Amino acid sequence: MSDTHQVNDLISIEMEGDTALIRIDNPPVNATGQVVRQGLDEAVARLDADAAVKAIAIYGAGRTFVAGADIKEFGKPPQPPALPEVYDRIEACETPVVTVMHGTALGGGLELALATHARVGIDGLRVGLPEVALGLLPGAGGTQRLPRLTGIPFALDACLSGRHVPAQEALEAGVIDRLEAGEPRDVALKTAQDAASGVLKTRRTGDLEVTPDEAALRETEEKLRQTQPLLFSPHKIVECIRVASETPLAEGLKFERAAFMECMDTPQRAGLIHAFFGERAVSNIPEAKGEARPIDKVGIIGGGTMGSGIATACLLAGLPVRMVEVAQEGLDRGIATITGNIDGAVKRGKLPADKRDATLAMLEPSLQMEDLADVDLVVEAVFEDMDVKKEIFGKLDKICKPGAIMASNTSYLDVNEIAAATSRPADVLGLHFFSPAHVMRLLEIVVADKTAPDVVATGFALAKRLKKVGVRAGVCDGFIGNRILSHYGKEAAYLVLDGASPQQVDSALEGFGFAMGPHKVGDLAGLDIGWANRKRKADNRDPNERYAGAVADRICEQGWFGRKTGKGYYVYEGKDVRPNPDVAPIIERERQEAGITPREFTDQEIVDRYMTAMISEAARVVEDGIAKRPLDVDMVLLFGYGFPRFRGGPLHYADTIGAAELVRRIEGYAQEDPHYWQVPDILRRMAADGTTFADMNKGA
Ligand code: CAA
Repeated sequence: MSDTHQVNDLISIEMEGDTALIRIDNPPVNATGQVVRQGLDEAVARLDADAAVKAIAIYGAGRTFVAGADIKEFGKPPQPPALPEVYDRIEACETPVVTVMHGTALGGGLELALATHARVGIDGLRVGLPEVALGLLPGAGGTQRLPRLTGIPFALDACLSGRHVPAQEALEAGVIDRLEAGEPRDVALKTAQDAASGVLKTRRTGDLEVTPDEAALRETEEKLRQTQPLLFSPHKIVECIRVASETPLAEGLKFERAAFMECMDTPQRAGLIHAFFGERAVSNIPEAKGEARPIDKVGIIGGGTMGSGIATACLLAGLPVRMVEVAQEGLDRGIATITGNIDGAVKRGKLPADKRDATLAMLEPSLQMEDLADVDLVVEAVFEDMDVKKEIFGKLDKICKPGAIMASNTSYLDVNEIAAATSRPADVLGLHFFSPAHVMRLLEIVVADKTAPDVVATGFALAKRLKKVGVRAGVCDGFIGNRILSHYGKEAAYLVLDGASPQQVDSALEGFGFAMGPHKVGDLAGLDIGWANRKRKADNRDPNERYAGAVADRICEQGWFGRKTGKGYYVYEGKDVRPNPDVAPIIERERQEAGITPREFTDQEIVDRYMTAMISEAARVVEDGIAKRPLDVDMVLLFGYGFPRFRGGPLHYADTIGAAELVRRIEGYAQEDPHYWQVPDILRRMAADGTTFADMNKGA
């Protein structure tokens, strides 16, 4: 006979003979918020004090065991009992306490299991300590208990990569003691009975000794110094694991707690958690939640880098693709690119090798636009020319079946104008992918004036299916990302004209955390793209605007388009990359022509000017309603433009500077160039009333 009672709203105890089952029921992911901590603490204390209880098993309700501490509580005053204290009390219990895990046992969830006396996984389980991705470290005993069970190298890898370790590997590494099939409650009962009878061996993790491994610690420290010099928590993780190998558990836990609190206080933690919630919040808008149209087959026009990348992304998501090109040569090139991409995905472990051929078989190449008559969605990915696009959409209008969605992958052009080339503008939207489209996670979903709500919802559903971060953008030149890029890109050019070298600009921004400085990015993307764009806009250039393209134009005129031609701002020879010596004289000539006396910039000045330029345009993008919320801008820059994740995005970063200081900076810079440096109204208002972009995110 079983008898169940609630300890509190989220924790219940079920008695089955002389065993007790503690159930955690805190949807969606059983995070260990205050009520869970309190309930667990009470439940375990009560059961441990009851001599009739021979074993206790903890398990989770719903789709997963515990996915960690409640991230929403971070940054707020801590509410007792603290997680490490609860876990220490569980470990100290006289009665055997065991954990049964299903789904994903992460962070504080896995740490709970590590503090119990044995662990059982249910098939399909994944375990991990992903705190490092949030700028933290496993702060509830993970850095101390995991190495006791698995040894130092596994613990280092788990804590520093944050990866989700599959059940079998977790079993082999010693994280779990058994792997079973079944419903969590049933497995929990069996596990408790086995623990009570001694069939399942139980022991305190804290009583185990860590096998020392100085070489692994040294090697990891050295590697981190090279690869992650800017991040705080990875270095602290290694320190904690080192302490675990040198001191008894109680001391190690104290050290870990202090290190965890240090991490908690860093702006990196705030930036990374903003990124975590931002990634999920972008699709948390009513338009994304409406009913989507079914997409079973995708048509792609254009087999160039973009078209092939988009096709690859669709194929990898199991979506059949019909790709149309105008000439056999282009089609062959597209097929070759897609084949190469798919082979690359197999090599990187993104696609099982035995699925390669079937995946490629879902690609149907064609030279006839008419073959798009049966697809549910067409993505046009030809070059940026309004007349060409209008012609294509005019044809699609006649070919596509009723209800088919017609999307343009344009990165700048007016989607309203493209839609107007059809008789069904409600079915048209922009789907702006980022190159390489099968790798980059950002998808701008560009909503035109007449785009139907279910077409927008389909854009978001597609993003999810392709495992991308879909962000809603309004129509303007460049939408969210490229509009902001055009603006701060000019500042990079002004810095060079005024005295910095392209290399100094790049290295200053890499020091800020960008993976690559803007000149390296330009070389990688192809300098000809910006050149074409400048030429397109040449007739409408504002005479009051200082021209930023002079140096880049001269470089392109030499036929140097960056990596693809072996030369740009840098020279590329195999793996060797060095500054292009012929660029300095070009810069010098342009300075002379413009009558500029070059001056010196510190790296900090470069970062301040560049970031202030980015923030200014990002603020205007929010003010104009092109982005609905500041967090949408942040996610665009994080997932599409290499913005350092630990800084959260330009507008999250702006809050760390403050609107008043930003206004002061812009007004200072405006003394030199009042046309380029203008204070956005929104920033001025924020400076006056003391509000932040975070307030706007909350209010939206
Ligand atoms: N705290 C609070 N909310 C959480 C959460 C957490 N730890 N983990 C997930 N959620 C929320 C998400 O924000 C999302 O909320 P909305 O539906 O309101 O958007 C919801 O749970 C579902 O999450 P996903 O959309 O991500 O669902 P999924 O099925 O794709 O993924 C998951 C599930 C793998 C658990 C994923 O959510 C995840 O990786 N979560 C974070 C896990 C983590 O980082 N844990 C460590 C926490 S820090 C810690 O534990 C510190 C310590 O050492 C004590």
